[in-house]
Amino acid sequence: MGMIDSNFIDACYGNNRGTIPIWIMRQAGRYLPEYRAIREKVSFEDLCRSPKLIAEVVRQPVHRFGLDAAILFSDILTVLEPMGMQVSFPDGGPKLANPITSPDDVRRLQDIDVDKSLSFVADAYGEIRKVLPDTPVIGFAGSPFTLMCYMIQGKGSNNFDKPKQFLHKFPAAAEELVNLLQSVVSKYLAMQIKAGANAVQIFDSWGGILSKDDYLDWSARPVNAIFRSLETYEVPRILFVNNIAPYLDILKTVDCEAVGVDYRTDIADVAAALPNKAVQGNLDPSVLFNTRERVVERTLQILDSLEDHQNLIFNLGHGIQPETPISNVEAVVETVHRYRS
Ligand code: CP3
Repeated sequence: MGMIDSNFIDACYGNNRGTIPIWIMRQAGRYLPEYRAIREKVSFEDLCRSPKLIAEVVRQPVHRFGLDAAILFSDILTVLEPMGMQVSFPDGGPKLANPITSPDDVRRLQDIDVDKSLSFVADAYGEIRKVLPDTPVIGFAGSPFTLMCYMIQGKGSNNFDKPKQFLHKFPAAAEELVNLLQSVVSKYLAMQIKAGANAVQIFDSWGGILSKDDYLDWSARPVNAIFRSLETYEVPRILFVNNIAPYLDILKTVDCEAVGVDYRTDIADVAAALPNKAVQGNLDPSVLFNTRERVVERTLQILDSLEDHQNLIFNLGHGIQPETPISNVEAVVETVHRYRS
């Protein structure tokens, strides 16, 4: 379990003396023609439930670019379906047919047996290991607050006003919901580790919209409880926070090996504020639409800004976008891999 020789894993623990590792947030996806070819034949929902196809789309970017880590192909919302939420992706974006609007809706949700209801995810790890025997595989889940955002808003949003209001209108029901999600996500990540995940990442994509007090109560606290429940597995735990800068003092108290840094934040500031954690990030995905020269320059700017490269995992500062030119992804990978050799 979890035993694999890799610069990525070493960097998570702050002791990588080799090539700087890189993987790309949302690396399997529509910017790749080989992914689009599979999606022509199968819906996103069906793909997420097909272990062999999952392994194929996980493999594609790793082999194309020579990336240092793979990530499970799934969605943060997959875990919500067996809990009783109706999730679909009608035109790419998520849509929940029965959003949570009241405390009664929270009571109707199911705690789940992850081994039973998400067995296709465990099976996917077996298939991934067959096609990527030596590559570390990252397991993932959404943070309880980020999952709540979609459960209550019912779809994507820029400000998620409904979930923010729910926290203050129905604090007892919100606490019930966050506790249920904390328990389910803990079990789900433990299952992924037992099935073969070599590291785990929690995506806190929307915690960054909260005031500091609310971030501590509603996001950092449950995330920390989840990470602590996973401590015994001895795999690196990564927390990505989209808009991390306001919460650096809170993150000192979160038990994880690495933090993912969004593109708005200065990654050197995060490294300085959290000296005992590795940093992952944080090239702005939009920069990949610029010229190759500018892409290389911005990549080097991040690399040069850091004094210590033993604890760096290079990545984008949020997900790669569907129309991204592939040659610019190659330029980033090449620049990162050459930097220290
Ligand atoms: O290689 C990978 O990283 C793919 C696995 C993956 C997906 N979603 C597949 C996906 C991962 C790690 C996610 C995480 C995810 N999903 C997050 C956290 C990361 C972030 O962006 O902040 C969030 C918020 C979601 C919810 C979600 N799912 C959104 C907002 C969307 C639509 C936007 C988009 O990027 O398309 C999805 C759909 C989705 N999830 C797709 C993929 C490949 C597109 C579906 C398709 O192929 O048509």
